[in-house]
Amino acid sequence: RIAYVNGRYVPHATAGVHVEDRGLQFSDGVYEVIAIAGGRPIDMTGHMERLARSLRELRIAMPMPARPLRMVMREVVRRNRVRNGIVYLQVNRGVYRRDHPFPPAAVPPSLVVTARSGLGPSAAVTEEGVRVVTVPDQRWARRDIKSVALLPNVLAKQAAREAGAYEAWQVDADGAVTEGTSTNAWIVTRDGTLVTRPLGDDILAGITRHTLIALARADGIPVEQRAFTVDEAKAAREAFTSSTTLLALPVVRIDDAVVANGAPGSITRRLRELYHIHMA
Ligand code: PDD
Repeated sequence: RIAYVNGRYVPHATAGVHVEDRGLQFSDGVYEVIAIAGGRPIDMTGHMERLARSLRELRIAMPMPARPLRMVMREVVRRNRVRNGIVYLQVNRGVYRRDHPFPPAAVPPSLVVTARSGLGPSAAVTEEGVRVVTVPDQRWARRDIKSVALLPNVLAKQAAREAGAYEAWQVDADGAVTEGTSTNAWIVTRDGTLVTRPLGDDILAGITRHTLIALARADGIPVEQRAFTVDEAKAAREAFTSSTTLLALPVVRIDDAVVANGAPGSITRRLRELYHIHMA
């Protein structure tokens, strides 16, 4: 396997950043995960726009213009012979003697790109649906930035796995679900309306979320962007969780409550179908 690190294509096994990289020391960086399906990137424009926004919000420079950056990603995908998988990209504020304030403007950001085959959970998991557990949302107040500072997400995901669940849905002080640790959260109400939390600084603007809303609307499925509580989710007709890697993954249990009859719902299935057409 091959990785790209700061201008070089290097063996993945020994690829690394400098010990004084601010990504390592301060989690001072941002990332993107882009799906590759049939050898092609999915929703690349959306991911690039979100990357530019994350960098702008943190005042980190773009490591290179968008076009060459896309070429680097294409090259990493090619060199790793990825047909279906993901490309991972991370930009850190750069390498400098450890000190909290930004380094001088002349210090370039660092860029790492990797790619690997394999996209999403097994067909069996997708067919059956998964369980999520709910946990308090302990993250910072700028979850709209795709920061690599993911410690609360890591702890919540680990708690989910230790409870035998696939994902943790994080809950705000009002009892409303914000999002998963690496996914956006959705329900379908009794009357067949798709509900997901509105964009703001309390969730990440998922690219899959954006695409799913567009696909649903075009298919005549009503969409409402509003917060929903854990109780509402437990009583919902369907639930699912979305990301670049999972698409729309059916959720059939929330904590100890079974969602509807405990099987993936028809609207979730329909959205997966539409998403596969979108990727083809
Ligand atoms: N996670 N919410 C959070 C907190 C996320 O980290 C992600 C993505 C999403 C879904 O966004 P998208 O649809 O653009 O993938 C929502 C990536 C996949 C990850 O951390 O691996």
